Amino acid sequence: MKIVTVEAPVNIAVIKYWGKRDEELILPINDSLSATLSTDFMCAKTTILASPSLKEDVFWLNGKQQSLDNPRLQNCLKEIKRRTNPESPILNWNIAICSVNNFPTAAGLASSAAGYAGLVAALAALYNIEGDITGVARVGSGSACRSLYGGWVQWSKGITSTGEDSIAHQIAPLSHWPEMKILILVVNDERKKYSSTSGMKKSVETSDLLPFRANTVVPKRVEAMKEAILKKDFETFAEITMKDSNSFHAICLDTLPPCVYMNDVSHAIVDLVHQYNAIKNSHKVAYTFDAGPNACLFLLESEVDELLSVINYVFQPPTDLNNLEYIRGIKTEPKIIKEELKLSFEPKQQKPGLLKFIIHTTVGNGPRIIEDPKEHLLTNEGLPK
Ligand code: DP6
Repeated sequence: MKIVTVEAPVNIAVIKYWGKRDEELILPINDSLSATLSTDFMCAKTTILASPSLKEDVFWLNGKQQSLDNPRLQNCLKEIKRRTNPESPILNWNIAICSVNNFPTAAGLASSAAGYAGLVAALAALYNIEGDITGVARVGSGSACRSLYGGWVQWSKGITSTGEDSIAHQIAPLSHWPEMKILILVVNDERKKYSSTSGMKKSVETSDLLPFRANTVVPKRVEAMKEAILKKDFETFAEITMKDSNSFHAICLDTLPPCVYMNDVSHAIVDLVHQYNAIKNSHKVAYTFDAGPNACLFLLESEVDELLSVINYVFQPPTDLNNLEYIRGIKTEPKIIKEELKLSFEPKQQKPGLLKFIIHTTVGNGPRIIEDPKEHLLTNEGLPK
């Protein structure tokens, strides 16, 4: 019997992945670049047990038993087994997988990246796989390959048809830019979710702008972004981050039917950030939005208190949460906006609760193997604890 538990992070792209050149191998049409987030607030925890006494493979996700008959999961398993020493007895054993994510359930934040990164990191430890495993996580969910490293990570699109060069690598560790902070503004939204997978497929099929973005815009941006990160040039970093988020959402609107991910509150956040930057006469805050209305704001530590005071002025917090429940991850008193800033911002979003809550977090490390047996999610018989 062998058992492994792993905790894996989410990541937020500052240069977006949008569009595949191969649906099954999950090969993208452009490079992308992301920050891995600390696991303090958002992570997936996965335990995998392999045992000769298990009768069949089993899988629990967030407390519910699931079928393993999912092509992406099977592709990851197949690839791991292909890389395993053929003499290893573990290849003949069945496995039990149990995975949970600690994301606030109401947040609607993407969990597949952390989920597949954790699954693949745990499988690699279980089957003693050495070398790059980002290409295995990629066949589970594209963006998951970037969650296998901490800090700042680039996923190269690769040029081969088989995908062995479509892998992720770290461009700078988390220690490189410790002043960088992240605020996730979780936006209330009741609309039906439209998945990234189907959205990007439709964009590849119908958007005339997408080839221009993938072939001309992104390659230059990736180089400029890497340089900005390595030089810790926040101004340039912020400008490229916002432009790339806007470019990605422009592609979404150029898709037929359009994928509308941002809502009125998202756009009000965009306005707030630009207004804030205009007052400061430089880009002090950057926004980026994925396939949903939540905003992810990047800013330096020195700016956090002031920006929070503006956010609290413009968006009234929900009436049923106290300050600690509303702003998570930082012990802070409600910040009062400075009088001179009040002139530049209207407290226009009067309805309370347009933002559900805010997560304050940092850049973080890659997946971590948890040695403490008490932390395993499965018993030695392969049942959820
Ligand atoms: C908007 O990785 O979820 O978050 O590869 O089909 O599983 P699949 O898609 P997924 O797409 C993420 C898209 C994005 C941008 C990004 O993270 O780069």
